[in-house]
Amino acid sequence: MSGAPWWQTAVLYQIYPRSFADSNGDGVGDLPGLIARLDDLAWLGVDGIWLSPITLSPNADWGYDVSDFTAVAPEFGTLDDVDRLIAEAAERGIKVLMDLVPNHTSVEHPWFIDAQSALDAPKRDWYVWAPPKPDGSLPNNWISSFGGPGWTLSPPTQEYYFHNHLVEQPDLNWWNEDVRRAFDEIMRFWLDRGVAGFRIDVANVIIKDAELRDNPAATEDDDFEAQMFGQRSVYNANRPEVHEVLRRFRALADTYDEPRLLIGETPVPVDDLARYYGNGSDELHLAFNFNFINAPLDAAAMRTIVEETEAALPSDAWPAWTGSNHDMFRFPTRWAQGDADKARAALVMLLCLRGTPVLYQGDEIGQLDSVLAHEDMRDPLGVLYYPAYAGRDAGRTPMQWRAAPGGGFTDPEATPWLPLGDLEDHNVESQRKDPNSMLHLARDLIALRRATPDLTLGDYASLAAPEGVWAWRRGARTVVVLNCSDEAVTISGVSGTIALSTHRGRDGEAVTSGLGVSAAEAVVVTTAA
Ligand code: GLC
Repeated sequence: MSGAPWWQTAVLYQIYPRSFADSNGDGVGDLPGLIARLDDLAWLGVDGIWLSPITLSPNADWGYDVSDFTAVAPEFGTLDDVDRLIAEAAERGIKVLMDLVPNHTSVEHPWFIDAQSALDAPKRDWYVWAPPKPDGSLPNNWISSFGGPGWTLSPPTQEYYFHNHLVEQPDLNWWNEDVRRAFDEIMRFWLDRGVAGFRIDVANVIIKDAELRDNPAATEDDDFEAQMFGQRSVYNANRPEVHEVLRRFRALADTYDEPRLLIGETPVPVDDLARYYGNGSDELHLAFNFNFINAPLDAAAMRTIVEETEAALPSDAWPAWTGSNHDMFRFPTRWAQGDADKARAALVMLLCLRGTPVLYQGDEIGQLDSVLAHEDMRDPLGVLYYPAYAGRDAGRTPMQWRAAPGGGFTDPEATPWLPLGDLEDHNVESQRKDPNSMLHLARDLIALRRATPDLTLGDYASLAAPEGVWAWRRGARTVVVLNCSDEAVTISGVSGTIALSTHRGRDGEAVTSGLGVSAAEAVVVTTAA
């Protein structure tokens, strides 16, 4: 199409492997199960899949506590399965991205087992240690982003180690050159196997203040999280030195002839997001925009964030747009409150902005968050904080393939690791038979993007629109209108042909004098030349 790298015109799709497809009836999704579903993904038209961690883990945080970065967890399969996945995906034009978790390991990782054993252990300096203060108190005031103190006392040496997440997830010391070299090797291990890149876990957190300075108290201008914790994460996250680490990752990725993609988990304000792209070509290729994920599905709120993002990023940097992931819940619930029309409109938004859309498994069928009983929860945060916080399981329940026992996810007699959701209302099998379904809408949108250079590479410009409506132009001849209001509107000044509407009967309709858009409808128009 153009000289653009593959990931700029791609639609990516996040897979939470534990909940995608189970081939052996143990109730846990696995790689052979995923391979058997590649045809579904090819039919949908996605270009790349990002797999949440499949590496060895004692699963205190479901794979995000890694005990071996180059071994596949047996419940998911083997390295041979990974090779087969990469090969079979490639046959269908799909690239495979892994999750890289450089900020921390599991307490069961051999590095940490060594490090905690003695002050002079070979790997001691690979983690962040500090002695108690003279009065016996914690080394500083840093708090874990999962709540509670960030420091835990390690009995053998009576020093504290730092963890930005669970006690079982000690943070690595990225000032240590050997840690950096170890991750070079881990990245090469996967890239050499043909992995197309990485999603980098908590990419803004990787390095800590070398002096372990106390975080400042939160002020009333700070965000919700800072208010909740009473402090701003100035020294345990978001350090300027993190950019050095990201430049190192990028330089390594760039040594491969076939372009590899680095997409970062970067929960930072829009203004800071730009910094994670470096000079536009020396840090992350894509940075997840949590401001967008967290905004309500409201025309002015969404438009503002998109405009701010467009303005903030370096000119050759490329946004990423996502509505759901394994931490943030599902957009059909969060943005659309279960309203199917709104979910469809949100899908149009995700796929018609300038940037790379990243769908989360189930988005394409409008799968909703599930309400779980406390005893069914598996996310440590839900287990710990329920009922104040129900954790992240609601968006992690199994992919809903069909309305039958096991949901097409696992054997009918098996007990899935998390309960199945509303199979009758949302499942792939029945939506595939219904041309008006969200699944067909998703497929048609992906196909429309592919066929319409305006929608992939065209620039973005907001257009004037009535209150509650967000309209934008892509490239020279494509206009997108999203009616977030509860009333039908007529947009003037747009003429051409409806390329796609969430109200499917309208595709192909001529627009001459005024474009009517119903409440919660989204329309893509190819304008007259
Ligand atoms: C990221 C992951 C999340 C995990 C955390 C700690 O935010 O997405 O699932 O709990 O990092 O690794």
